[in-house]
Amino acid sequence: MKILAIETSCDETAISIIEAKGGLKKPQFKIIADTIISQINIHKEYGGVFPALAKREHTKNLLPILLTTLKKGGLLNPVSNSKNKIFNFQFPISKQTTNKIHKILEREIEIAEPLLEFVKTHKIPKIDAIAVTQGPGLEPALWTGINFAKALALAWDKPFIPVNHMEGHLVASLLKSKVTSSKYKGVEFPALGLLISGGHTELVLIKDWMDYKLIGQTRDDAVGEAYDKVARMLGLPYPGGPEISKLSEEFSKNLKLKTKNFTLPRPMLHTNDFDFSFSGLKTAVLYTVKNIKKVTPEIKKEICAEFEDAVVDVLLLKTKKAIAKNDIKTLILGGGVTANKKIRKEFKKLEKELSINILIPDAKHSTDNAVMIGIASYFRYLDNKILLPNKTGKIRAEGNLAL
Ligand code: KG4
Ligand code: ZN
Repeated sequence: MKILAIETSCDETAISIIEAKGGLKKPQFKIIADTIISQINIHKEYGGVFPALAKREHTKNLLPILLTTLKKGGLLNPVSNSKNKIFNFQFPISKQTTNKIHKILEREIEIAEPLLEFVKTHKIPKIDAIAVTQGPGLEPALWTGINFAKALALAWDKPFIPVNHMEGHLVASLLKSKVTSSKYKGVEFPALGLLISGGHTELVLIKDWMDYKLIGQTRDDAVGEAYDKVARMLGLPYPGGPEISKLSEEFSKNLKLKTKNFTLPRPMLHTNDFDFSFSGLKTAVLYTVKNIKKVTPEIKKEICAEFEDAVVDVLLLKTKKAIAKNDIKTLILGGGVTANKKIRKEFKKLEKELSINILIPDAKHSTDNAVMIGIASYFRYLDNKILLPNKTGKIRAEGNLAL
């Protein structure tokens, strides 16, 4: 089946079309088209994501991205003789549907008419469902994608699938599973998910797809948040993750700088649970920076390297403990911080060390994207968690939606 998926939970506007098959046991996914517009340059000057601005940008971007994505996927088919669209009996949109679409998009009213115009002048694409991120995330941003998806589902008469953003991160690595190779055993359960993003740090016990139990989480800052805040202390631009990662790498490459002059704490490393805390680590960086008279570029690199080592130590140890305790067969990484080279490298080593299967999404699909929303929606579709296009009214954006 083909699914069109929409993601607008934070500062990326993304739409993808994926093809999914194989069912829950051997799911296989292929990207037909994938488009992302990042708002990073717009939010950079605020040092973080500004919700009202994110909503405005999503509203502006959604329809053009939809057209681009359909075109890339060979699914953009204008109705011939579209000049005579009023005689377009092939795809009539009733007065009643038009009114409903206006109502759905009342807070994004500027795209209601352009969307209707587009729908009237193009054939309904051959897709089987429309999926959208329902939460967690920034509510004004989420609403934009949800309303757009509701309107589209109604106009095209397609099933509507609301998706949890974190479940999307959890399944993003399935995109590259070598399901076609005879060696691939599929994801063996119980699996463990380590979700590390800008808003979340969670260890999730996965008994089966859609059967999740949160066994550990951060008590304060998320890992990505700590990266972003430490970056700000060091005068590095938003988002901080990639910047810190770059400097840390430079430190490791430079043999002259090999030994570090100070150490940062590894918070909650030896506690008897699977929880995390990164706020103390962030504060330790703050004091370190304050105590140094002049933070030279070399010292900056050293701080980044030590910060990253501390993060990796904590994530690795807690994950290993959770693997041992729960007899885990597959470890699945997900979330924007998974794009980090050091984290990828260190976790990959566990494959041999613990002889378990480890899935890590490719760097491009580690940070927010719509492909992962499409993948998660396939499982929901198989489980019949779909809504008819005229029954989407009760779906609301949920900023704190839990897995
Ligand atoms: O999953 P994501 O794209 O958005 C949320 O759902 O939060 O994650 C964004 C987070 C940001 O905090 C960003 O700094 C971090 O992921 N990040 C990284 C890297 N790339 C993005 N952190 C460390 N190393 C990276 N290479
Ligand atoms: Zn995310």
